[in-house]
Amino acid sequence: MDQLEGRVAVVTGAASGIGLALSGRFLAEGMSVVMADVEQPVLEARAAELAEAHPGKVLAVHTDVADAAQVRGLKEAANEAFGTVHVLCNNAGVAAGRATWKTRPEVWDWEVGVNLLGVGYGVNTFVPDMVAAGEGHVVNTASEAGLHAAFGLGVYHATKYGVVGLTEALAGELRGTGVGVTCVCPELVDTLVFESTRNAPAHLGLPAPAHIPMSDLEAMMGTTAMPPAEVAELIVAAIVEGTFWVTTHDATAPRVHARNASLEAAIDPTPGGAS
Ligand SMILES: NC(=O)c1ccc[n+]([C@@H]2O[C@H](COP(=O)([O-])OP(=O)(O)OC[C@H]3O[C@@H](n4cnc5c(N)ncnc54)[C@H](O)[C@@H]3O)[C@@H](O)[C@H]2O)c1
Repeated sequence: MDQLEGRVAVVTGAASGIGLALSGRFLAEGMSVVMADVEQPVLEARAAELAEAHPGKVLAVHTDVADAAQVRGLKEAANEAFGTVHVLCNNAGVAAGRATWKTRPEVWDWEVGVNLLGVGYGVNTFVPDMVAAGEGHVVNTASEAGLHAAFGLGVYHATKYGVVGLTEALAGELRGTGVGVTCVCPELVDTLVFESTRNAPAHLGLPAPAHIPMSDLEAMMGTTAMPPAEVAELIVAAIVEGTFWVTTHDATAPRVHARNASLEAAIDPTPGGAS
């Protein structure tokens, strides 16, 4: 999609972080943007702010991406407001850090529902129109956590590995249709993703998130967080140039290489693990 002006984008998880930055960036490109999020008051506030500079170009639709019927409702609202959708960003995601074996089934359901099923429902709902039109672009946000695993975020890794596999398959399925596909695998980005339990369904009984300053997270992870606007910039370039992979940090490729090397050499990837 080398021409974004006048086109229509749907962004899930648009009330915060990368999704909010993408929405602003698409508007600056002259697109109309449908902002979808489960956190309704924040969504409406952010959409109203963006609409001030771009009147008539912003629609906010309260959507839980883990609910296929709500994703269908999102598409209907987008079509009614702006017509055919050209760019779909399956960006909504949550991270709840507990060891995999300590994660309750209901929490598995929540995280898999948002991070993996939400992407699948988005693809299933929006791609048929793109294929029929012979043009469009799907951006699925996975994570560096979908390319190799650390410890303590097992459910998150499971969902993000799933998004990477889904997106690689989708790109092959759509080859020759005119619909492009991008898989976004960020390392640390300065957002509220580590406070994801703010949006957890109440019945899960998860504690309210503690705010950890980004500088502390950077120190813990030995990295520098990328501003979300820079991620949005990379994603827009990928859409225009038709690039599949988007990563944010130079450290990602060597880590993936080390993980793949452990597989090729049949070496246990866990530190201190037996070969
Ligand atoms: N921030 C990072 O370091 C980082 C790194 C790798 C990948 N990611 C991924 O980037 C994506 C965007 O996250 P972010 O970092 O901007 O975090 P964020 O928490 O700032 O934004 C995520 C948005 O998703 C929304 N959301 C949560 N559950 C939803 C649901 N069921 N339906 C619709 N919307 C829902 C939230 O309300 C929030 O507005 C996520 O998929 C995340 O996993 C983030």
